[in-house]
Amino acid sequence: MSTVGIDQIGVYTPAQYIETTELAKRRQVDPNKYTIGIGQNQMAVPNPTTDIVSMGANAARTFLSKVDVSQIGLLVVGTESGIDQSKASALFIKSILNLPNQLRAFEVKEACFGATAGVMMAQDYVKTHPGKTALVIASDISRYGLNTGGEVTQGAGAVAMLISEKPRIVEFLPESASYSDDVNDFWRPNYSETAFVDGKYSTEKYLEFFTHTFDDYLKQTQLKVTDFAALTYHLPFTKMGIKAQRLALENQDEATKTRLTAQFEASSKYCRQIGNLYTGSLYLSLVSLLHQGNLNSGDLIGFYSYGSGSVAEFFAGRLVAGYQNEIATNHMQDFLASRQKLSIDEYEAIYTECGKVKTDDYELTPEAVISDGEVYFAGVKDHLRQYKVKG
Ligand code: CAA
Repeated sequence: MSTVGIDQIGVYTPAQYIETTELAKRRQVDPNKYTIGIGQNQMAVPNPTTDIVSMGANAARTFLSKVDVSQIGLLVVGTESGIDQSKASALFIKSILNLPNQLRAFEVKEACFGATAGVMMAQDYVKTHPGKTALVIASDISRYGLNTGGEVTQGAGAVAMLISEKPRIVEFLPESASYSDDVNDFWRPNYSETAFVDGKYSTEKYLEFFTHTFDDYLKQTQLKVTDFAALTYHLPFTKMGIKAQRLALENQDEATKTRLTAQFEASSKYCRQIGNLYTGSLYLSLVSLLHQGNLNSGDLIGFYSYGSGSVAEFFAGRLVAGYQNEIATNHMQDFLASRQKLSIDEYEAIYTECGKVKTDDYELTPEAVISDGEVYFAGVKDHLRQYKVKG
């Protein structure tokens, strides 16, 4: 039977950030609440030249030179930060990346689950179109508003993945366990720039859905917790994953607890430094684990995806021999260390600017771009969003 999985994976996140301890001071909150209680140390801050298209294109550009672009037959963008009510962000990205016209390109929305929906569709597509590959992009800007309970759990970024036969990084196992129910834990009406969230209820549902899907998955596959080298989670903030991991580790021996806890810490490092990527959060955890975990070829990794509203899915994959050659470990760590730190005043000014609804045409010049990526949002002309590549 042919194998399908992640052949390439790339991340983009903004080049500016704030320290959550400084945010805590400004909001008159004990910093330990943010760094320990919620588990977030830094938060990426997008500027006005950054949107889901520019971030998604920049994430894919990290690996496109290593793949045969002419074989990409499907492009799915999972996002809940849409830029248009009709036209899919996937079409803008298709154009920027010069992907072939013989392509099925669209956008998927189901809160933070959107990219996993894309990964599942991509697997089916690759299995039924021999030789073809699929590009799945998760891209989001998480906004809850200044001085709100959710503020410290914001963030921004994109993860792009090429799904193929004979993948070079992770081979998915065929089984998966899903669970859906109509839940009002997080939503964003069309008239609102920021999400409405009942954070505690959302955590409750996230954990409940974890139990449903994880138990179902173990039953289906006859796998045991000890078979996993690591479990990765959708991580809007690291405390949420810590709580799910506690459930997974109940009744396990000390050695298993110690081993999987260390891997969880490795998988949550980038989330602590970047914040919530919504659709990309689970896949950022995977990248963080690949870069900083203690792993070997053949290791089994579990994936827990959750999207408010709510849909959850648990699935798993094995690391392919030689996967280390496909991941640029140092680049990400060097980039995070080189980001520009913003003061809280600067962050608030940028945040307010990004939130302005503009209905007239405007132009953003390359001088305004502070980014590790080369693709940027350049403004609006005749009501159409414009994207440019620097240089
Ligand atoms: N030192 C150490 N810990 C402290 C502390 C201190 N001084 N003060 C408080 N804490 C701890 C608390 O004990 C608590 O820990 P537990 O959760 O383990 O009990 C934690 O810090 C948070 O404290 P509170 O619950 O009092 O904090 P809060 O009322 O400000 O709410 C929050 C926190 C719920 C995370 C809030 O920030 C929030 O609503 N964030 C947004 C929620 C969110 O992102 N939800 C995810 C939805 S799923 C998703 O990603 C969306 C999707 O699908 C679209």
